[in-house]
Amino acid sequence: MSKDQTYDERNGSPGPVRLRRLRFSPGLRALVRETDLLASDLIYPLFVRPGAGVKKPIVSMPGQFQWSPDTVVEEAAAAAELGVPAVILFGIPDFKDSCGSSNLDPGGPVPSATRALKKELPGLVVMSDMCFCEYTDHGHCGAVNLPGEQGYRADLPEGYLLNDQTLDLLGRASVVHASAGADAIAPSGMIDGMVGAIRTALDAAGLEHTAIVSYAAKYASAFYGPFREAAESPPQFGDRAQYQMDPANWRQALREVELDVAEGADMVMVKPALPYLDVIRAVRAACTLPLAAYQVSGEYSMIHAAAANGWLDLQRCALESLVGIKRAGADMIITYFAKEAAGWLA
Ligand code: PBG
Repeated sequence: MSKDQTYDERNGSPGPVRLRRLRFSPGLRALVRETDLLASDLIYPLFVRPGAGVKKPIVSMPGQFQWSPDTVVEEAAAAAELGVPAVILFGIPDFKDSCGSSNLDPGGPVPSATRALKKELPGLVVMSDMCFCEYTDHGHCGAVNLPGEQGYRADLPEGYLLNDQTLDLLGRASVVHASAGADAIAPSGMIDGMVGAIRTALDAAGLEHTAIVSYAAKYASAFYGPFREAAESPPQFGDRAQYQMDPANWRQALREVELDVAEGADMVMVKPALPYLDVIRAVRAACTLPLAAYQVSGEYSMIHAAAANGWLDLQRCALESLVGIKRAGADMIITYFAKEAAGWLA
């Protein structure tokens, strides 16, 4: 048999190989489908601010809102009803200072919302995003080097993010959030040693059952633009390139994951998702932990913006991007489409 003979020819049927046979009907397509996108794969990010009765639209993210601890329960209940198993909470405090002290307040928006959610919806998994950028007046993800501030170091540049002071803050805030009932703490600041510091602090507080979902490979991405409006957290000077990853790197993502695993992470994450599908694939191959991918605010908003112009079909593009993220190797996806997509998939 010559090398360029097709399979069909070998079977005595001349002509091209007909892969289209298995695409002939919806039934056949369903039978050979390799990737399933399920509501149970989705995690719904929710923004919580203090107060009651709040449902404030986020202009750059159509369909997304800032909630208060009471209203967020209604929204989470609607998502859970459609089969979404988990939420991840972001806080917008009333008060910001240089070290983000309101993130240590047990009465802050996220601990309050967590208590309300665990009371009303005990089966819902509540993850607490753990970062200081929403709580600091300078908008950086921890304590920064500023003259006159505690721990100032003349040998380091002004505005430099102070790693070890930040680890201490992360450990203390994680204990506050976990004590409010969070099932998992999700550190998102790309601070070296954050997973180990949080694990140590949680264990010392008797919170050894609380999981850590590490934003292990988080890139310094322009796709976070709309989030910074949503969480009211843009950096007031500089950017995050000294702690978040360079978009050009993938081997370094494996190194980040390796260290977080060694420090005791229970799950790891790649973020953003769509421009980093190769990283998701590489992490999937290198690591046995559950892998989450974060379809970030910009990925959500660009589909919405194009759909609003009539250029793209919202539902089909949202579902196609989500199934692509799963196909790349993610076990679960944090997505602002979670509630809506669960409805479409029902
Ligand atoms: C906080 C944090 C950010 C996001 C999640 N956690 C913003 C940032 O790092 O600037 C982005 C999420 C999104 O864009 O949807 N560190």
